[in-house]
Amino acid sequence: MNETIDLSYGATFGQGFPHEFFKKLRDEQPLYWHEPTQYSPGGEGFWVVSRYEDCVRVMRDPATFSSDKVPPRKGGGTSLFDEPYAGLAMNTADDPQHKRLRGLVSQGFTPRAIADMEADLRRRAKIIMDKIPNPDRCEFISEVARELPLQAICTILGVPEEDRVQLSGWIDHGLMVQSEGVISREYLLLIQDYGKKLIEQKRQKPANDILSAIIHARTEDPQEIPLTPLELVNFFLLLFPAGAETTRSAIGGAMLAFMENPDQLAKLRANPGLMPSAVEEIVRWTTPSIYKRRTATCDTEIAGGKIRAGEKLSYWEMSANRDERMFHDPFKFDISRDPNPHVGFGTGIHICLGIALARMEIKIMFEEILARFKNFELLAPPLWMPNNRLHGVRELKLRIT
Ligand code: HEM
Repeated sequence: MNETIDLSYGATFGQGFPHEFFKKLRDEQPLYWHEPTQYSPGGEGFWVVSRYEDCVRVMRDPATFSSDKVPPRKGGGTSLFDEPYAGLAMNTADDPQHKRLRGLVSQGFTPRAIADMEADLRRRAKIIMDKIPNPDRCEFISEVARELPLQAICTILGVPEEDRVQLSGWIDHGLMVQSEGVISREYLLLIQDYGKKLIEQKRQKPANDILSAIIHARTEDPQEIPLTPLELVNFFLLLFPAGAETTRSAIGGAMLAFMENPDQLAKLRANPGLMPSAVEEIVRWTTPSIYKRRTATCDTEIAGGKIRAGEKLSYWEMSANRDERMFHDPFKFDISRDPNPHVGFGTGIHICLGIALARMEIKIMFEEILARFKNFELLAPPLWMPNNRLHGVRELKLRIT
């Protein structure tokens, strides 16, 4: 490749996702070696996999492409940074530990428990609309898109109503990706401490929430060890970036897509039955979680090239979801796209645990927005998060009537 671009530098994404670069990669170098730069964690280079077919292969072969630490590395995980805590939360664990964690968590996180949240989430969505301070000058991300996803996670975790404003503030500073991509350790500790206390309370006195069910989950296997306090805190911490930030970006990015494609908005208004396929297209189009890293456990081959044991490999769901080999007219936002085999929620053993919830939140938000408002007008160009991990619109100024 003549033209290169630093994918390990958050600011590269501050102008939006570099689609043209990835199109070139898909066409010319489906397995690309990214040389280390001053921003690459550990000063290490890494592989870049960009075609749909190859990304899916990586996701479906966790024995070769690990989410955990691969010795002699002291860290691992699913971002380029070698995370020392890899293995403690399900997204950074391999089987059998992953199976154990997901099995225990799934006992609380049941389809029924998620479906039961719908009426409450709809009530909350209406309140969010009521509270938009000035629809003539609305900052859609902080005033609208951010709210329901945070509320949903707080409900799952049984965070008391009176603590939510303070906790959301800490989350914004400590766990949500900041505009500069900086995460504050001070706030992280506050959230961790809060999580520990809440878990202890619910251990002693279970409430009617999903977190309580998870704390007390046991499998039929008497040898199975219940979730440890450290694993529970890591689950608590994981849900905010994994569940709230992603869904916020989907809702924010969808609003922008509808304004750029008013025909699609009119189509949805005229035919609300298109909502399920619109939601899938929103997730494909926005792909809020743009890449994942894995570590090769052995020498292997992919996308026509060789990879050695221990090397870092990144695969880019955003690129897979725009692959011309898989999608007809991939750069068209088409709410009736069918089929739509996007990998926005991943695939394989780590497929998103929150799919049903994410779909429900996006659906409720757009049903409520369409019921309440007729016109949306962009007041300024959107600002993007300068972050290569959780990507999305950071600021979207609108006039809504
Ligand atoms: C539009 C919104 C969302 C998107 C695009 C999304 C995307 C993803 C992706 C791509 C993965 C795979 C990670 C990997 O392979 O390393 C994942 C995993 C996960 N997601 Fe989501 N997610 C969304 C919403 C949610 C919500 C609402 C929750 C929870 C309330 C959630 C919880 C999780 C968890 C716990 C995992 C780890 C699963 C495992 O490793 O077995 N996500 N998500």
